[in-house]
Amino acid sequence: MARAHGKAILLGEHGVVFGRPALAVALDRGVVARATAVASTSDCTLHIEPWGVTVVPDASSSRDLDRAFAALLDAYREAPRVRVEARTELPGGAGLGSSAALSVAVLRAIDELLGIERMIAEVIACSLAWERVFHGAPSGIDSALAAEGGILVYRKGEAPEVVSAPKPFRICVGDTGERSSTRSMVDAVARLRERNRAKIDLVFDSMAALVRNGRLAIEAGDHAAVGQLLDLNHALLASLMLSTEVVESMCASARGAGAFGAKVTGAGGGGCVIALAPGKEDDVIEAWKAAGRDAWISEVGA
Ligand code: MEV
Repeated sequence: MARAHGKAILLGEHGVVFGRPALAVALDRGVVARATAVASTSDCTLHIEPWGVTVVPDASSSRDLDRAFAALLDAYREAPRVRVEARTELPGGAGLGSSAALSVAVLRAIDELLGIERMIAEVIACSLAWERVFHGAPSGIDSALAAEGGILVYRKGEAPEVVSAPKPFRICVGDTGERSSTRSMVDAVARLRERNRAKIDLVFDSMAALVRNGRLAIEAGDHAAVGQLLDLNHALLASLMLSTEVVESMCASARGAGAFGAKVTGAGGGGCVIALAPGKEDDVIEAWKAAGRDAWISEVGA
């Protein structure tokens, strides 16, 4: 059985598409997958639960998932004769890297069956081939976290830097129930930048400064400081029009329940909100659930 992590970006989403660093953590929820041998390549399928979707590798299909599966299987010298059963514990289109986690779990399940061992950089490269089908030009941060886990500072095109927290900590993850496409949110930010490059680059530079400080705060175990940085990053994302009313209300209720900070995570336009609330996690989750949102606590940095 192979496993890959979901992720939450603490600081720096969108800036990371434009070459700035971002700081992200792997979640303890992810995707599990198992591959079994089949008689012929024409029987090759990927079945994904709980979506109840069956995918075939087909580079000319109109379905993104079929083309992504075909792109992932390009990693093999010969088309593998496998059936893969995958189960995702992550909501899709919610900013938690479910697509990258799926690709890494599927690749690892097939590798496990065929006795193939890959370096992490190669796993990330294969996952990116899958991700490009959905997201056009992803930064690669989702694939890096899915493959490597832990806490990373990531900059496009560079090896991820591992960040060590003095001890594992917990974050609250709440789902707005609103869905957005990463590609269209990234495109919207790119259009804003075309209209006012100096201003948007300043926003990205400010995020990069938050990432540098966030790394130091995590390494020092200073969660109050990390919380403040989450709030600042959220304000910058909201200035890029990536927040929604539900996101704002969930961030406000998390802060009201005692969180040090809260923000939208990932592409925005809905999706998930994260909060850092040491000792008050249950209060945050209760506040979100009382408003009808799905929410859970994830341990990070273990
Ligand atoms: C990824 O989860 C979020 C974005 O930064 C896009 C990317 O990094 O590819 C918005």
